[in-house]
Amino acid sequence: MRIAMKLLSACMLFWLVGGAYAAGMALNKVEVSVDLPALERGADTVIDTCTVCHSLKYIRFRDLAGLGFAKDKVQAWRGDSPMGSVIASKMTVDSALLAFGAVPPDLSLIAKAREGGENYVYSFLLGFYAAPDGMMTNHYFPGTKMPDALGIAGVTDAAQRALLEQKARDVTSFLVWAADPHAQERQTLGYYVIGYLLLLTTLLYFLKRRIWARLNTIQQNQHKE
Ligand code: HEC
Repeated sequence: MRIAMKLLSACMLFWLVGGAYAAGMALNKVEVSVDLPALERGADTVIDTCTVCHSLKYIRFRDLAGLGFAKDKVQAWRGDSPMGSVIASKMTVDSALLAFGAVPPDLSLIAKAREGGENYVYSFLLGFYAAPDGMMTNHYFPGTKMPDALGIAGVTDAAQRALLEQKARDVTSFLVWAADPHAQERQTLGYYVIGYLLLLTTLLYFLKRRIWARLNTIQQNQHKE
């Protein structure tokens, strides 16, 4: 009975929270990619377009090389900046504030910093539209000061839309990588650790058998005496 009550209240809570969430516009779900080509397309857009206004202050060009992008690609991205420098914004905070009335946030951790994570970033990028009064706004951030960077608001046909969705997905994938650049290394390390533990377990098992075999013989000999 008590379990049934608990289940019931859990369901009620879920329903309430779910209802509150549905009051805003539901986020579009995105399957982010970890493929190098997708991440490279994403990095291209982020560095060409987004860094006009945004920085990625926790990502260095060296990290991009470490991820496996070609040397000349990284070279083209960084221009004259050294490998060790971070991805800076081409705009100062003051001029951004003057131009937009808001500071473009650093994008290194944005995929983790916003509620909804990657789904929010993806939905936000594709959420721009012109309101009836002609002002640009966003379904997921009404009245945002950011311009429609990918140009989704002007799109009329499905093919063009599909292209921009792909672009937003690549950008989001790159930003998800940026928010946790060592996720893949950790996973690989995890496999090594598991392999090592399995090997150790096997060795210990055989060691245990040898020790007990010897103890058993000693015991048997004692019985005989
Ligand atoms: C022309 C300048 C400009 C460009 C280009 C630009 N942004 Fe922004 N962005 C802004 C400004 C300004 C804000 C702050 C908006 C606000 O607070 O109203 C912002 C905010 C954001 C936010 C945070 C929204 C939130 O919930 O607070 C994200 C995510 C974002 N930008 C992603 C991007 C990505 C990805 C690109 C490249 C595809 C990009 N931006 C290109 C100016 C720009």
